[in-house]
Amino acid sequence: MGQAGLEGVVAAETRLSDVDGEKGRLVIAGHDVERLAGQTRFEGACGLLWDGVLPDAAGEERLRAELAAGRCAAFERLPALGDALSAPDGMEALRAALAHLRGTPPAGLVAAVAVFTAAWIRARLGEPPLPPEREAWHAEDFLRMSRGGAPAPSEVRALDTYWVTVCDHGMNASTFAARVVVSTGSDDVSAVVAAVGALKGPLHGGAPGPVLDMLDGIGRPERAEAWLAGELAAGRRIMGMGHRIYRTRDPRAAVLEKAVEALASGAGAAPRLALARAVERAAEGVLRARHPERPLRANVEFYTALLLDGVGLPRDAFAPAFAASRVAGWLAHAREQRETGRLIRPASRYVGPPPAA
Ligand code: COA
Repeated sequence: MGQAGLEGVVAAETRLSDVDGEKGRLVIAGHDVERLAGQTRFEGACGLLWDGVLPDAAGEERLRAELAAGRCAAFERLPALGDALSAPDGMEALRAALAHLRGTPPAGLVAAVAVFTAAWIRARLGEPPLPPEREAWHAEDFLRMSRGGAPAPSEVRALDTYWVTVCDHGMNASTFAARVVVSTGSDDVSAVVAAVGALKGPLHGGAPGPVLDMLDGIGRPERAEAWLAGELAAGRRIMGMGHRIYRTRDPRAAVLEKAVEALASGAGAAPRLALARAVERAAEGVLRARHPERPLRANVEFYTALLLDGVGLPRDAFAPAFAASRVAGWLAHAREQRETGRLIRPASRYVGPPPAA
């Protein structure tokens, strides 16, 4: 069955990121994720992925201006999106809205994901969309457009840390989907729409909302073990735990746990962080007992849930907020794939009946 999930199959050579599942290490274009996150804003991560080097102050400012212009252009398109943003599922809304775009450059597509997500969040509350601010940095403006009002600098820092942490991650399912689409000679918008479709699934990007539901369901640290054992007994998976590649704790979980700690100090969210840590320890224990052969530890989505909740985003917007960063990685991969000029076209093994004689 190893073949069914293409485990270990190398589908591309990339300069963008390297995931070492045994050592629990993530390198993004030559930078360890632990050092990159917190060192640069999301604009810096875009520059790193698209140009191969971390931009200097002038380069970061150029990217800021490009994303801001993209946000303004995306905002102007909102009236032309019909009922795309009225879908109850945020990823469905994003998929439908992005499909309206044509010939949009990478910065415009990245900006559009943020603007459409913010407009969807507002539409769910029955509120009109809030226009972008041309002078703002991307994370700051996304929070403002989503919630209204100026976000605190600690919230902007936390979202930047999150977005930098998740901007790229090897040949994950949505990135692969984007590369397959581009390999046919198709365009970036189509690649991003396909990638959003892949990210929509709960096994890929849909776990952080359910992680929060799980924490709510558990309520108190002392209830964690029995609650989690009940989930396993019912045949359900524990959200935010396990990973296709990592056989260690996902290094991004550590980065985000730290970011949540910084955000929680002074914001009254510390009890929830303590609960999450207790649940993580208990989940490791019950999963170790159930699968002694396979380390199943926290993945990126475990602390993502706390971080995105901590910056005031509704839990059903967590997957689109993830897409708002990963789209930068998808587009970098799209360019890299285009450069190879090679159609991705694997084979299948026929196991159907032979033709009648
Ligand atoms: N909870 C309970 N059991 C889990 C588990 C989890 N979170 N993750 C894996 N397992 C179990 C599987 O049931 C399977 O057991 P089995 O052989 O008895 O059926 C075994 O571990 C191997 O799992 P497999 O499905 O082969 O692993 P994978 O590489 O396909 O899984 C994930 C990777 C991420 C899909 C999986 O760990 C998962 O579903 N996690 C929860 C969802 C999640 O957090 N997604 C976000 C990913 S970033």
